[in-house]
Amino acid sequence: MEKAKKIDMNNINEVKNSLENKSLKVCVVGIGRIGLPTALSFAKAGLQTVGMDINEQLVDSLNKGNFPLKDEPGYEEIFNDVIKNGKFSATTDINKAISQSDLILLSLPTPINEKNIPDYSALESVCKQLGDILQPNSLIVVESTIEPGFIENNLISILEENNRLHVGKNFTIGVCPENANPGEILHDFTTLPRLVGGIDQQSTKIITMIYDFVFSVELIIMPDCKTANAVKLTTNVFRDVNIGFVNELSLMFDKLGIDTLKVLDAAKRKYNFQIHYPGPGVGGPCLPINSYQFLNTATRTNSKLSIIEHGRKINEEMPEHVVNLTLDGFKISKKSIKDSSILILGISYKPDVKDIQLSPAEMIINKLESLGVKIKIYDPYFKGNQVFGINVEHNIDDVLSKVDAAIIVTAHKEFQEINPKIFRKMKTPILIDSRGIIDTVSANNVGLVFRGLGRGI
Ligand SMILES: NC(=O)c1ccc[n+]([C@@H]2O[C@H](COP(=O)([O-])OP(=O)(O)OC[C@H]3O[C@@H](n4cnc5c(N)ncnc54)[C@H](O)[C@@H]3O)[C@@H](O)[C@H]2O)c1
Repeated sequence: MEKAKKIDMNNINEVKNSLENKSLKVCVVGIGRIGLPTALSFAKAGLQTVGMDINEQLVDSLNKGNFPLKDEPGYEEIFNDVIKNGKFSATTDINKAISQSDLILLSLPTPINEKNIPDYSALESVCKQLGDILQPNSLIVVESTIEPGFIENNLISILEENNRLHVGKNFTIGVCPENANPGEILHDFTTLPRLVGGIDQQSTKIITMIYDFVFSVELIIMPDCKTANAVKLTTNVFRDVNIGFVNELSLMFDKLGIDTLKVLDAAKRKYNFQIHYPGPGVGGPCLPINSYQFLNTATRTNSKLSIIEHGRKINEEMPEHVVNLTLDGFKISKKSIKDSSILILGISYKPDVKDIQLSPAEMIINKLESLGVKIKIYDPYFKGNQVFGINVEHNIDDVLSKVDAAIIVTAHKEFQEINPKIFRKMKTPILIDSRGIIDTVSANNVGLVFRGLGRGI
């Protein structure tokens, strides 16, 4: 890329013109699950876009024309087009990427550590570097999920640390928190409203104009960065807490012989009931982390968020409950679980994506292994890979006759279409369904020892 004439990203007319004549240069830092589709969207809109990442293998592979997100429908074609027309390239060189860009989007990971404390080190270290290399008049948009107040209290002071640039004077910053669902990113990017918050009205207007140009979706203007981030966390934590609520109910309904699914199915007919389903736990890069982000904000501000705390605790106990259901199945079959062989069906944290981040499957496997169980795994998204130290089977039919029991952990489409009859092939046909996809009557009719999470049996 040629060195660009620098556009003043705090000047509405200059930005407007740069969009119209496609001279705006974009750098997306962090081109993973969210950052890569984001970068491809900007490139597809005709803007020269560079994706910067510390993962050399990823960068090499992208520049060779290999698209990694095979479970994101629609993006491979866009990727092929923008690689071909030269609108997108990837690099590990942050100095070069930033020096040639007007707009810098940060899509860096914001995980939690082993003590469930949010880890913002990637954002902090990149912003420290930006403090040295950012071109005057640039605009930074943070898409990563962060706590309310993190821009105002942390990132701005890191960016200004060496006294070279000052926010509102010679650079500007805002947020547009990403809210797409893995596996449906193209759909969500082109339909879901996005939140925009800047450090002032001018930056909010400019970010809105850019996102409108690239995504053409409804943009919800927030008064500031912290309110936009509060909305992002509230929507996800609402789900985590409500899943905790139905999980806790399902434990009681089990004791009452009530099928939770039947309760939910009828309850949802009331206009103001929003359905959430029980399951083996809540994983992934968003919900559990977002709850811990809010809990961290509560600690920082001397507040109490006891409902979130309790919801998290229940969701984290669900893998144990799945193991208890399994133990129950073995007890009924009068078979010892020790030295048995159990097939885990699905290791992704959610259906139809290749992603095991914080997946409850790992906790279930660890607990079963500690009871002396030999684990086998089948997951259509990980066939032939080694995951959690176990080789993932290629074919469900071949492995069923070699195991005593199976546990459905992820509701992949392939499992939703399964005929319960095939589980008869198992040595002791014990089936545990933690996702409510097998019908209890059919399971009993084909002679399985069946336990369903929250199904009242
Ligand atoms: N995945 C989701 O479902 C989802 C949805 C909405 C929002 N988010 C948020 O988006 C952000 C990104 O998440 P993701 O799922 O895309 O993460 P990811 O792990 O898939 O991608 C992050 C990328 O950043 C790179 N990276 C890490 N440190 C870096 C550094 N110092 N410099 C440059 N690159 C670096 C990594 O190599 C990786 O490629 C997070 O804040 C997450 O909470 C994620």
